[in-house]
Amino acid sequence: MYGNYDTATAGASLGENAPEDAEQRFDQLIAAEQRIEPRDWMPDAYRKTLIRQIAQHAHSEIIGMQPEGNWITRAPSLRRKAILIAKVQDEAGHGLYLYSAAETLGVDREELLDLLHTGRQKYSSIFNYPTLTWADVGAIGWLVDGAAIMNQVPLCRCSYGPYARAMVRICKEESFHQRQGFEILHTLSHGTPGQKAMAQDAVNRYWWPSLMMFGPPDEASAHSAQSTAWGIKRFGNDELRQRFVDMTVLPDADLRWNPERGHHDFGAIDWDELARVIRGDGPCNAERMRRRRQAHEDGAWVREAAQAYADRRARPDLDRVRAS
Ligand SMILES: [Fe+2]
Ligand SMILES: [Fe+2]
Repeated sequence: MYGNYDTATAGASLGENAPEDAEQRFDQLIAAEQRIEPRDWMPDAYRKTLIRQIAQHAHSEIIGMQPEGNWITRAPSLRRKAILIAKVQDEAGHGLYLYSAAETLGVDREELLDLLHTGRQKYSSIFNYPTLTWADVGAIGWLVDGAAIMNQVPLCRCSYGPYARAMVRICKEESFHQRQGFEILHTLSHGTPGQKAMAQDAVNRYWWPSLMMFGPPDEASAHSAQSTAWGIKRFGNDELRQRFVDMTVLPDADLRWNPERGHHDFGAIDWDELARVIRGDGPCNAERMRRRRQAHEDGAWVREAAQAYADRRARPDLDRVRAS
């Protein structure tokens, strides 16, 4: 059931004593904006950076199923329920593409899940906020998936082939998520005064955490410069955040158009809050992790059955059974 790649061995045999021409070839591919593929030699630090980033991204996709999943049984109509189920299922799919992409770098999915479950790898801090009302499902789609698109579209041109290709498909699905969120909020904002207030409250609560999704300011961001040089990262955190603000323009008393900069100025972000949530003290960190570990344990029988099935198919002497 796990990726069937032999890149771990390929990478290891080359990585030990990189022939000079392998390193040169890597630098040339990066300089020419071409893709690095799993079979290519790559510096250890490049591999490690990608594993960390892709894993954190994959973890965010599957933890991100929880806040919205909480509303599947309470969606206001059958239509909304069907759309929400499809959306949450997409996020599981994103997790799968990304874990598969990480596996091409020679790590095992089990290992990555273990790092998540023991708190040694993180997921996006945004998913530690609660979904208090139905309007939050709209705010997540519009703002959180919207911010994700802004962050992720440049990754479609990332220098690592399997990651870039996974992102192409993910971004297509994220646009649908953003539209459905917008449509929920649009409907509520044309509804009763109670529904309007609910929509406004959801947007107010999710606005600042959405801005934090772009990460700390560039001057405080540890890995940015090297990732940019490697063609993993294409734009700075602050630049992407500014684009998102300019596009969305929302509940901030300090928001003003600044003709000199050609951008909107906006209020100060509470970076202490982000640090707190990343440390584990957000409103829902413990709950999210508890449910994730529970889901993993509950799914053990599925993994075992899939493994048994794969083992059986790998046995040519059982062809008869397979054919019947
Ligand atoms: Fe996603
Ligand atoms: Fe999404």
